[in-house]
Amino acid sequence: MASEVAGQIIGGTMGEVLIREKSDSNIELGDLLVTGTKESFTILQVFDIRYGSQIPELTRELAAGLILEGRGERVNFLDEALRNYRVVMARPIANVTGNTVRTPKRLPPFFSTVRHVTNEDLRFLETDPRGKVFIGNVRSGSKVLDIKVHIPGEEMFTHHVLVAATTGRGKSNLVKVMLWSIIGTGKFGVLVLDPHDEYYGRSGPGLKDHPEAKRFVRYYSPKPPPGQNSLVINISSIEPEHLEGIIDLTDPQREAIAIYRRKLGNHWVENIIKGVVEEKVPERSISVLQRKFRVALGVYYEDNQFKTNNDTFSVSSGASTLDQIVSDLVSGKVVIVDTSRLTDEGELLVGSMIANKVFSRYRDAKGSDDFRHLPPVSIVIEEAPRVLAEDKIVEGDNIYSTIAREGRKFKVGLLAITQLTSVIPRTVLTNMNTKIILGNEMALERSAIIQSAAQDLSTEERNIASLDKGEAIVSSIFTRFAVPVYTPEFEKFISSARNVKKDAELVVE
Ligand SMILES: Nc1ncnc2c1ncn2[C@@H]1O[C@H](COP(=O)(O)OP(=O)(O)OP(=O)(O)O)[C@@H](O)[C@H]1O
Ligand SMILES: [Mg+2]
Repeated sequence: MASEVAGQIIGGTMGEVLIREKSDSNIELGDLLVTGTKESFTILQVFDIRYGSQIPELTRELAAGLILEGRGERVNFLDEALRNYRVVMARPIANVTGNTVRTPKRLPPFFSTVRHVTNEDLRFLETDPRGKVFIGNVRSGSKVLDIKVHIPGEEMFTHHVLVAATTGRGKSNLVKVMLWSIIGTGKFGVLVLDPHDEYYGRSGPGLKDHPEAKRFVRYYSPKPPPGQNSLVINISSIEPEHLEGIIDLTDPQREAIAIYRRKLGNHWVENIIKGVVEEKVPERSISVLQRKFRVALGVYYEDNQFKTNNDTFSVSSGASTLDQIVSDLVSGKVVIVDTSRLTDEGELLVGSMIANKVFSRYRDAKGSDDFRHLPPVSIVIEEAPRVLAEDKIVEGDNIYSTIAREGRKFKVGLLAITQLTSVIPRTVLTNMNTKIILGNEMALERSAIIQSAAQDLSTEERNIASLDKGEAIVSSIFTRFAVPVYTPEFEKFISSARNVKKDAELVVE
């Protein structure tokens, strides 16, 4: 990237520095510009561009008319770079002196020149990647720089992450890349609830292709490939609180559940499905619950036997699956749970059961020696409003909102992926201290994200609307400013990651 002069500051305010663009410097929306010396400089980010002209508007209209009507061969004064130009609006986002980065509180000198950012300027963002999660490369507009952005994993995961974008902008791709970068470290347990069966890579590239996958990636699926695990969960592991915020229940239904649980212990679900009548419970409540369980679990009772229309919930097997998953997480693995064959409610219930189990394991260990050795756990949930939307948590917390609120104390965090940020309550959003914002053309969604971001993104509206696939803005309490990044496409990333690894090994040998 050229380090020549790209423009000159001609006025403005702290929030909007005006720069006249040098005619050939191709400044784009989102570009990072630099003013100052190599040792001490200010980074500015472009958020809008307009035309500027020395020629009065009427004259420009006349000149355009002459050209359009074929009488304007000689109207060349308009081309002059001196008289017509572009004015760039940019916001100072960081003052850098050596390795110290500060939020700008002074305007850069009047009339100072600006240039495009270079790799050298941003070296301070490069840190030792150990214990960190790779997010992508720094981006200036749509130009990808050679600087990799890593965020400390323990802090980021336990303070929750929100990944927001319209469909198809690369949310799942980004999360796959992030997870790839931590597999094999054993430092984090990550649970991925995967409704589209796209993370493991059953029939294409995926996390299974990681060189350390054998030891550090576990896949639970109703149809597991050889060597992986069956996702079978015994219905006796279901507790009434697992249903909160997942299955809509009325008060009489809740009461009925409480009675069954008290009287029949672990066999409460089974007996409801079977239709065993309990005193004080109206039959109607039971038949409604039977229907709800049939939808969520796929389990019903017919011809004197239990039947199931999926292979996940079982009356007879799967008693140790949840414990197995929790123990995988505790030993620093990425656990992918393929819920693609379940109904929405079934999937969320499985998630809720695992999340509850992990959370209680960590909460119970808190304060003990054991706790210090437990790795942080992050729970990746796709289409998060299904459990985090306002109406899902009004009646009381479900496990996800509990984790969003107090998980940090217990080293358990959420990584919530969403197309809709606006339906998630502010209290939950403000607890999510890292937001990875990909392209979004819906103004309402952009403003919900911007309002809850860790940095002032008020000028970023237009940038967010114009982000292409893989282009993101990372706003986090763990970055000094909102960093524009590009996350590579997973397939390309893993082939280059493998090459890098080979190179590194060669050096060692
Ligand atoms: N960084 C990238 N560069 C190029 N292509 C990308 C990038 N990220 C994603 N894609 C492509 O865009 C498509 C959609 O990506 P992805 O599935 O990650 O989007 P998404 O935001 O998760 O969508 P959805 O909301 O449907 O889940 C994929 O086919 C992927 O190959
Ligand atoms: Mg996706």
